[in-house]
Amino acid sequence: MLPCFLLLLLCLCAHHALARAADTVSRDRPLSGGQRLVSSGGYFALGFFRPDNGAPNRWYLAIWYNKISKTTPVWIANRATPISDPNSSKLTVSEDGNLVLLDQAKSLIWSTNITSNTNSTVGVILDSGNFVLAPTSNTSNFKWQSFDEPTNVWLPGAKLGRNKITGHTARFISWQSSVDPSPGYYTLEIDPDGSNQCIHRWNNSAIYWETGLWTGHMFSGVPETAMYPKDHLSYEFVVNNQETYLMYHTNASVVTWMLIMEISGQVKTVQWMEGRKDWVPFLAMPKAQCTVYFVCGSFAMCTEDDVTFCSCLRGFSKQYNGEWRYGNPSGGCTRNAKLQCDGNSSRQAKADGFYALAVAKLPDKAWVLATVSADKCEKACLNNCSCTAYSYSGSCSLWYGDLINIVAPDGSTGQSIYIRLAASEFSSSAKTQAAMIWASTVGAILLTLIVIIGILVILKRRSFSEVNKVEGSLVVFRYRFLQNATKNFSEMLGKGSFGSVCKGILPDGTLVAVKKLDGVFQGDKQFRAEVSTIGTIQHVNLIRLLGFCSERSMKMLVYEFMPNRSLDRCLFGSTPMTLSWKTRYQIALGIAKGLAYLHEKCRSLIIHCDIKPENVLLDDAFMPKIADFGLAKLVGRDFSRVLTTMRGTIGYLAPEWISGVAITVKADVFSYGMMLFEIISGNRNTDWHQQGTDTFFPVLVAMRLHEGKIQDLLGPDLTPDANLEEVERACKVACWCVQDNENIRPTMGEIVQILEGLVDVAFPPIPWYLHVLAQSSNFSTEASH
Ligand SMILES: *[C@@H]1O[C@H](CO)[C@@H](O)[C@H](O)[C@H]1NC(C)=O
Ligand SMILES: *[C@@H]1O[C@H](CO)[C@@H](O)[C@H](O)[C@H]1NC(C)=O
Ligand SMILES: *[C@@H]1O[C@H](CO)[C@@H](O)[C@H](O)[C@H]1NC(C)=O
Ligand SMILES: *[C@@H]1O[C@H](CO)[C@@H](O)[C@H](O)[C@H]1NC(C)=O
Ligand SMILES: *[C@@H]1O[C@H](CO)[C@@H](O)[C@H](O)[C@H]1NC(C)=O
Ligand SMILES: *[C@@H]1O[C@H](CO)[C@@H](O)[C@H](O)[C@H]1NC(C)=O
Ligand SMILES: *[C@@H]1O[C@H](CO)[C@@H](O)[C@H](O)[C@H]1NC(C)=O
Ligand SMILES: *[C@@H]1O[C@H](CO)[C@@H](O)[C@H](O)[C@H]1NC(C)=O
Repeated sequence: MLPCFLLLLLCLCAHHALARAADTVSRDRPLSGGQRLVSSGGYFALGFFRPDNGAPNRWYLAIWYNKISKTTPVWIANRATPISDPNSSKLTVSEDGNLVLLDQAKSLIWSTNITSNTNSTVGVILDSGNFVLAPTSNTSNFKWQSFDEPTNVWLPGAKLGRNKITGHTARFISWQSSVDPSPGYYTLEIDPDGSNQCIHRWNNSAIYWETGLWTGHMFSGVPETAMYPKDHLSYEFVVNNQETYLMYHTNASVVTWMLIMEISGQVKTVQWMEGRKDWVPFLAMPKAQCTVYFVCGSFAMCTEDDVTFCSCLRGFSKQYNGEWRYGNPSGGCTRNAKLQCDGNSSRQAKADGFYALAVAKLPDKAWVLATVSADKCEKACLNNCSCTAYSYSGSCSLWYGDLINIVAPDGSTGQSIYIRLAASEFSSSAKTQAAMIWASTVGAILLTLIVIIGILVILKRRSFSEVNKVEGSLVVFRYRFLQNATKNFSEMLGKGSFGSVCKGILPDGTLVAVKKLDGVFQGDKQFRAEVSTIGTIQHVNLIRLLGFCSERSMKMLVYEFMPNRSLDRCLFGSTPMTLSWKTRYQIALGIAKGLAYLHEKCRSLIIHCDIKPENVLLDDAFMPKIADFGLAKLVGRDFSRVLTTMRGTIGYLAPEWISGVAITVKADVFSYGMMLFEIISGNRNTDWHQQGTDTFFPVLVAMRLHEGKIQDLLGPDLTPDANLEEVERACKVACWCVQDNENIRPTMGEIVQILEGLVDVAFPPIPWYLHVLAQSSNFSTEASH
């Protein structure tokens, strides 16, 4: 019995050893077909890879994460030269000791291409994701490493930088499209001019983003770099005689984290969320997608906050449809109808026309004419074949050739640009004909309208009166009814974390906000139960739920309408209002009361999870009302949702979000504190360096509190009517809220008492990362003087 058992054990062991993939490739053990190398700890694998939806005969030698369920390539050897058949291709060690990739014809596709004094070498994949070439005798003595020739992914421990002796530069270059890993337009690199910062460049020319200088702890334009505990995430910027480089480290036992240069030109820090089975972005640089140079190509417009952020201008169509489909719209758009242009005096040729387009930012590369009239400006453009647009605002700007970097207006403000189109793009034929068509069309439309209105009135009566029911305190709305009330969801109020919000009018004249929920996968019964719970939560500082709609996959919530919209619009919208200190203090107190109610008073404890100015609405008397509470639960306990919709700012997120420990109500307290700083200053915390100030506002507050000079904060930022005592109280509360240790953050109930002046509060310790920021901002102030 015993020998048999031993034999079995032996067999199992042998089998196991065979099945376990090796981490080494050598001349005797080449790699081909479906074989893979796996690093000793199992973190990374190397083998042949094909992008999802990619062409069937384009294969790449790649490294990917071995322990996560989504194949995520982090390095590619032959990114511009795919092979057609991995079975007859192989990775091996050549006679001169280099790693080589040979295709079926034995021709060289890729090589490490180094000269070394030994030809007895092996390739090893390491647990860091680094693939190295080293002598067989000592595999720690690298001759070549993939970290020196990265693609689009920057892994912890890899260097972004320049070797001053060899001149070698390691930089990150985007993929061409989601199916094509060949080098795209966008690069992330250390500033070649020698300043200690990183830059984003388009096509090796235009610099469209800079991190700001390294201050010793963070980049001045990215205070988030200093935000998290050092044992979770730390950056290291090294400048010496041999090299300049930036490196970062993560605690792999806590997070799986990487930086990636996206196809669309943003660098994103992403973390793997096992619950979501996907990468979740934490930070995007630059924050606004539309800041990226050439992101939509020519004759297209970029719209922030839209999933498909590029669209062609009127009169133009997408140029390379395939590329657009695979996440690379930079092919841009082409004209549908040729311009007449040319100053052709022939009678037949109708002159081109212009149409007005509202934009947030005019395209790049304008020519400005000396002061001429608007008429002359249009003429000047019309008279030159290559002029494609003009804009007039006191002076005349003309554009020649392709229009690039047009950004759609985000709010009420904007400028107008006049885009040139062929005459045929406007109403086509002769005037009389047009007039006749006009008359008949108007007639037909009128007739149809009368009929439609008649039908609508009948339908409306019906849907208004018969179909809505009342369930508990909530009205159950029919989809058709809401469609009518919102004019087919035409008047968008905004886009929140859980879906878009439209304005609606009920038959009795009541204004409502209708929220269409995305991604609710609950059944009808469960949804109704959850919504009824939310319906019972009522407080003056919480937005009131009036009813809901649940028809098949359509799930909607109907809320009371808030005329003053959201706090972020009031504080930092395109036309910010100056709120008096008294109003701001009342807003801060009201939000605290609403949150205290959610955390402490209502039957089922509710953690909001997404406290930020966008989720605070203001009624006509500027009474704050918290929106979106209870929804984190409704869409499932998948908190990473909240993260994805933060649009690249971790500014309100408590540090414990990153460490993966359970989230408590104290995470809301942290977010409240960060928001309180913004209510006090009237500016976004993360915009401090664009405001031209030297110091991150929370740091300034912490420093002034300690120096006892809170009155120094009363500058142009703070309204002059501020009550010094209240300012100090609010500042102390904010500093207590953002403590690293959640146990010493106050509860929302305590915060209400402090703000009301019922309880006094001690001086807060400076939170760890504020401390770091404080030091670094001293550093930067000194350095800049
Ligand atoms: C490679 O060989 C495997 C097994 O023989 C086969 O299943 C696979 O289809 C082949 N791959 C290609 C791209 O020909
Ligand atoms: C390695 O190099 C030596 C001399 O440089 C040569 O004699 C030998 O054949 C080479 N080995 C292989 C396997 O190519
Ligand atoms: C190898 O490097 C040399 C010079 O360092 C260069 O001329 C050659 O083109 C490279 N070959 C390959 C296949 O990259
Ligand atoms: C192997 O190479 C590394 C790096 O060059 C070196 O530090 C180490 O001493 C070498 N080990 C042996 C046994 O030679
Ligand atoms: C990118 O740069 C190359 C070389 O400078 C140039 O030939 C090419 O036209 C540029 N691409 C675009 C779209 O301008
Ligand atoms: C990684 O995090 C764990 C858990 O927080 C900690 O015990 C460990 O010391 C950390 N490792 C490093 C290298 O910081
Ligand atoms: C002017 O227009 C006419 C008619 O459209 C065309 O035949 C002629 O080639 C044009 N002339 C030039 C110089 O383009
Ligand atoms: C049109 O404008 C461009 C740029 O100013 C100029 O180079 C070109 O000569 C002009 N063409 C005509 C026909 O005036």
